[in-house]
Amino acid sequence: MTSLWLDVLRPIPTDDFEPLASYDDVIVGAGLTGLVTALLFARRGHTVAVLEAGTVGGLATGSSSGLVSLLQGAQLQKIRQRTYQGVVDAYAEGSREAFSWLLDYTEGAGVDVERRDAYSYATTRRGLERVDSEYFVGRRAGLDLVKTLKVDVPFNTLGAVRLRDQAQLDPRELVAALAADVRALGGIIVENAHVTGVEAGDPATTHTSQGDVRSERVHLTTGAPILDRGLYFAKTTPRRSLGMAFSGVDDDDLPGALYRSVDAPSRSIRRHRGDLIVSGNTHGTGRAASETALAQDLEDWTTAHWPAARRRRAWSGQDYATLHGVPFVGFLPRGRGRVFVATGYDSWGMTNAVSAARMLVADVIGDDSPWMTTLHHRVTLPAAIGWGLGANAAVAWHFARGWTKALATPVSAGELPGEGEGVVGSEGLSPVARSTVAGESCALSAVCPHLGGIVSWNDQESTWDCPLHGSRFTPRGEVIEGPATRGMTPRPL
Ligand SMILES: Cc1cc2nc3c(=O)[nH]c(=O)nc-3n(C[C@H](O)[C@H](O)[C@H](O)COP(=O)(O)OP(=O)(O)OC[C@H]3O[C@@H](n4cnc5c(N)ncnc54)[C@H](O)[C@@H]3O)c2cc1C
Ligand code: FES
Repeated sequence: MTSLWLDVLRPIPTDDFEPLASYDDVIVGAGLTGLVTALLFARRGHTVAVLEAGTVGGLATGSSSGLVSLLQGAQLQKIRQRTYQGVVDAYAEGSREAFSWLLDYTEGAGVDVERRDAYSYATTRRGLERVDSEYFVGRRAGLDLVKTLKVDVPFNTLGAVRLRDQAQLDPRELVAALAADVRALGGIIVENAHVTGVEAGDPATTHTSQGDVRSERVHLTTGAPILDRGLYFAKTTPRRSLGMAFSGVDDDDLPGALYRSVDAPSRSIRRHRGDLIVSGNTHGTGRAASETALAQDLEDWTTAHWPAARRRRAWSGQDYATLHGVPFVGFLPRGRGRVFVATGYDSWGMTNAVSAARMLVADVIGDDSPWMTTLHHRVTLPAAIGWGLGANAAVAWHFARGWTKALATPVSAGELPGEGEGVVGSEGLSPVARSTVAGESCALSAVCPHLGGIVSWNDQESTWDCPLHGSRFTPRGEVIEGPATRGMTPRPL
């Protein structure tokens, strides 16, 4: 389901694919990272092409709540617990520069930005400890944080940390402006060009569903990296969050600031014009029993606190968490210095995407700032390694569980799911995935083409989601996102 921001009729102008064309930089993915990277290279006189599998800003960026903040829930203490203070300082410095860049850019491009205070609030005793910790770690990193008991929301909180003068925006307006500026500088943006592989030769060749192109360098700004060379899929955890827009709330009752919970379940609250925007219920991709139930839960929570709220729109989106809370940005291993990657923003991509884009450009031109060098060379503490081991154990558990459950659930030949439903079972020793959406029934192998996980049905989005590394597919088996580059295999119904 598309987000509030993407629910507009006017498409963003793009270009036709030119087979075998050559560029300085090919950028794969037209989310915030890809577009800022393309713009920065184009401004330096590089020829650039952005190749997008779907539509500009159509995935995580278009699902974002659009909070642009240096206070990011409890992110700084997470980084501190898993690395050391120098990395927190570097992360904060990169975010500060990204924030300034974004504000300067939006002002010049005429994108509406509203300045608001940001709060990380606690509703439990444990949360209050996190608020304290965020305050100390953030202050040490130079953020002008203040502790406060005054949190202007219609439910009980125990306290919060506040940062003045952060920002909120409409992410689609932002990507539309970036895309227009990239094209104004001679850059090419192609939609529906699904990249299936990259050869890191001289020049590099990028294979897409529309043909091949050549370039000096390739930048994978695809959310999950689509090449397995760096094994980034094993170092990141895909997580989905739900977003909702509500109408009907009195203007005086709409939040005047940006609020983010530090307790689970996650909650992010803001206003957009006359609407209340709430996002949260973050969960592992393909691991929720029902995303529809999670959406209902978010709606129930909202209407319990804003009784006049009426659901206008619901959507969900995916982002990737790294083991230390710091994005992976830079050379892709075995990419011969020609293939670069940026991933792992842990739901804080509005600033992290800009930091990552600036790092990608600095890597190419050899102009790293000290904060970039620190982030490239961060040391991972045992806490992060432990977290990584836990995440990989969960992957192994979901692999075994998926296969065991599928093989223990035989389905008969004529058995079709009801409208909007998807079922996984087995025909003999073959796991199968069957769905019916808008009257069309489809049957596929339930085995994820990436590394063999068993997909599960996402009843909110009507998609097949893989609980291992987050690849997602349409009911017909086409890839939507994640590390898989091929679709699921069709089976006879
Ligand atoms: C519900 C939700 C709310 C959020 N709220 C906030 C917030 O308030 N503040 C904040 O800072 N962050 C927020 N985030 C996080 C933020 O939206 C993301 O971190 C950021 O948008 C990621 O940008 P990106 O460019 O890396 O990814 P994307 O926007 O996903 O872009 C990647 C692009 O690559 C394309 N692609 C993938 N594979 C291929 C391929 N093989 N070939 C060609 N193209 C491909 C995709 O189609 C996609 O368009 C939120 C995220 C979610 C899900
Ligand atoms: S995404 Fe890796 S196995 Fe499915």
